[in-house]
Amino acid sequence: MERGKDVVLDGVEITYPNGFTAVHETHLKVEAGEFFSILGPSGCGKTTILRSVSGFVEPSRGRVLIGGEDQRGKGPNARPTALIFQNLALFPLMPVWENVAFGLEARGVGKRARREKADELLQLVALGDQAEKKPSELSGGQRQRVAIARALAVGPSVLLLDEPLSALDLKLRQHMRAELRAIQKKTGVTFIYITHDQGEALTMSDRIAVMNAGRIEQVGGADEIYSSPHTAFAASFVGEANQFRGRVTAVTGDYAHIKTAHGQFIGRNPVGLRDGDEAILFIRPEAMVLDAGDNQMMARMERRDLEGAFVNMMLRTPTGAQITVCVPNTSATQISADAAQFGFRSEDAVVLPEGPLARTGGEELAAQ
Ligand SMILES: Nc1ncnc2c1ncn2[C@@H]1O[C@H](COP(=O)(O)OP(=O)(O)O)[C@@H](O)[C@H]1O
Ligand SMILES: [Mg+2]
Repeated sequence: MERGKDVVLDGVEITYPNGFTAVHETHLKVEAGEFFSILGPSGCGKTTILRSVSGFVEPSRGRVLIGGEDQRGKGPNARPTALIFQNLALFPLMPVWENVAFGLEARGVGKRARREKADELLQLVALGDQAEKKPSELSGGQRQRVAIARALAVGPSVLLLDEPLSALDLKLRQHMRAELRAIQKKTGVTFIYITHDQGEALTMSDRIAVMNAGRIEQVGGADEIYSSPHTAFAASFVGEANQFRGRVTAVTGDYAHIKTAHGQFIGRNPVGLRDGDEAILFIRPEAMVLDAGDNQMMARMERRDLEGAFVNMMLRTPTGAQITVCVPNTSATQISADAAQFGFRSEDAVVLPEGPLARTGGEELAAQ
């Protein structure tokens, strides 16, 4: 089928006519055939980046290349891209197959060939037996798959997906993650997928770009982004993290020592902090351990929430830091509410430069 092309943002900067710069100088390469996600909070510039790839907005500086070809001056119809967003706009009176084939009619493809192409694509999105139905006779997830088939019908090399699942309910969203991933693998088309939902980005993507305030802060695989964030924003936006603010007092090998109001701790030093730097140590709730680890603190349990397989515990240290601990629900975790010794391994913690934190996720866990 269609083969993906790579997409390069070569110093792209986008300033809207009102003078607001929504995307600061960005260098990025999305590989051909990759499922690439841009993850960030609402308003950080994700849609603006996508519009510059699709041709609905021209960069104020820099250029977009697709398959090595400069896209400057090319409108949306001249680019090898297709765009999907949350409002599907299927034609209610047309059967599903005609919806899929709609773009082909405009290109002068005959009815028989259109039907064949539509059937092939409906097979691909697992709707082979729904071709004659009207969109209203399908479920939300099925309609979303029709929209994807329609976008693929014109043979794009790059499919741009702007939060396409956000209108669906949670169960369906989770189901569609696997569907989208499978469709992407089967077609080999490059997917650039935009979302503010970390779960979507982590589960579907080959690589993820974490974006904040018009800048891409980090690009990497899901494991890398989660276990080795490089900015305070990435550490607090993706997953939950306990945070300890302080100052670096020593650097030894790949580790930084940090002095905080709640104790002296050691964590990895991925971005090369130096003695005296203001910093934040981040440690995931599931990396906190009872009675172990090279970093120790006393804490008293304030709340215990049983999630089923896991227990979330809210603790407070004598110095006032709130800490969240997530442990498997086994008999070993039936600790008393009295003060207990907690700790973490230095290799599970990261020490990062002081910087803006995400307003979601980690904030409620803020240890200060
Ligand atoms: N046409 C426009 N003119 C001026 N500012 C805009 C325009 N479109 C978007 N913005 C602003 O640019 C920023 C990024 O918007 P957008 O790319 O839509 O973010 P996201 O998709 O990440 O939610 C926001 O602050 C938004 O208000
Ligand atoms: Mg958007």
